[in-house]
Amino acid sequence: MCDGAVSEFVDLGDQPTANGFLLPEEVSAEFRFRLAVGACEGCGLVQLVTVVPQEFRYHAGYRYHASGSVSHREHFAADARHFLEAELTGPDPFIVEIGCNDGVMLGTIAAAGVRHLGVEPSGNVADIAREKGIQVLSAFFDEECAVRVHAEHGPADVVFGANTICHIAHIDSVFRGLETLLTPGGVFVFEEPYLATIVNGMAFDQIYDEHVYYFSAASVQAMAAKFGFELVDAERIAMHGGEVRYTIARPGARVPSARLAELLAEEESSKLNEPATLAEFGRNVARIRDDLVALLQQLRADGKTVVGYGAPGKSSTVTTYCGIGTDLVPFVCDSTPGKQGRLLPGSHLPVRPPADFADPYPDYALLFAWNHAEEIMAKEQAFRDGGGKWIRYVPEVEVI
Ligand code: SAM
Ligand code: TMP
Repeated sequence: MCDGAVSEFVDLGDQPTANGFLLPEEVSAEFRFRLAVGACEGCGLVQLVTVVPQEFRYHAGYRYHASGSVSHREHFAADARHFLEAELTGPDPFIVEIGCNDGVMLGTIAAAGVRHLGVEPSGNVADIAREKGIQVLSAFFDEECAVRVHAEHGPADVVFGANTICHIAHIDSVFRGLETLLTPGGVFVFEEPYLATIVNGMAFDQIYDEHVYYFSAASVQAMAAKFGFELVDAERIAMHGGEVRYTIARPGARVPSARLAELLAEEESSKLNEPATLAEFGRNVARIRDDLVALLQQLRADGKTVVGYGAPGKSSTVTTYCGIGTDLVPFVCDSTPGKQGRLLPGSHLPVRPPADFADPYPDYALLFAWNHAEEIMAKEQAFRDGGGKWIRYVPEVEVI
């Protein structure tokens, strides 16, 4: 973002791409890279030290389907209703979503008959969105794409991205594109994992190849200013264990919110963006790994069974970093059909359908999809009623 030197503070070892679910015959050719994170000494932006090319990460075999949980469907329907009521109220409004995936947000916009365009490079999920009647351009969003969208559709009142903007290494090009694409009073709204959740909440498994940047309000404010925009709002939201919804506008177009000032002050007082805080996080990650491996080894020694629950990108980071193999966790169950019958990247734990969880219930379930804890635990009440216990490892290793 600013060409400053990047100072590394955590190294999670050689890792695969987190959504690169494998067939058994693909194991020997699995791609690996060193997964390490640092902070820019110039602007403070926290980022991966090595970036995997985007074509390796997003393609017609992309396994993440955004509509996979009730909470996500409800959250994005509420986002869409907010845009319809608060931003898309002028004559013939237009909204662009960067990374619309299977159309979880744009579905509500399309149903309201409002002009929209999803920009989505992963062909399989883009096709699912199209089947829902959503307009989708198969492309990686960048400056050239923004100019093309503007030429074909005119300016956008809202450009939205969720769990996508931190995936885009060429963020400078995104901002140059917005310069063309946004109306003078338009907003760029994006929701991304929050650095404070990761660093203070020990959500180290949010670190994987797709998450190139780990934003804070301070680093987003600096980024917006560098590219001629202004950060005008930052709202904490519960998604993925704790994210922030940032709103960026043209300078002077909107009054910055009080909660933005509060969040910036909180980051300052908690020293979130300071090297000593980040270095301590790195040490704590190694301690959690040691605690989790010790617990799993103890349970194995005691003859207890453990099954993984959920195969999100996060599970690839934690199982690979901790060296968790089938000797400790024989399989993981996940509701996403495209992940079932494949192996978790890196650790190669088999992924099976949720029905296998109850056949028979294990003694312990290692909750990889911890951000969906409420929904999953409610669904699996019979497991707990039968004496089953959940294991969490964020923010600390805990049996509940
Ligand atoms: N927005 C959905 C959500 O929040 O659940 C999907 C998020 S998914 C983790 C990230 C999506 O961004 C993927 O569907 C991916 O194909 C897409 N993506 C990655 N790079 C992109 C780019 N440069 N332009 C547009 N979409 C991109
Ligand atoms: P996410 O944390 O990136 O949303 O991914 C959650 C993963 O957990 C996804 O692969 C779907 C899976 N999952 C289940 O297997 N069962 C469930 O009840 C829920 C909510 C998610």
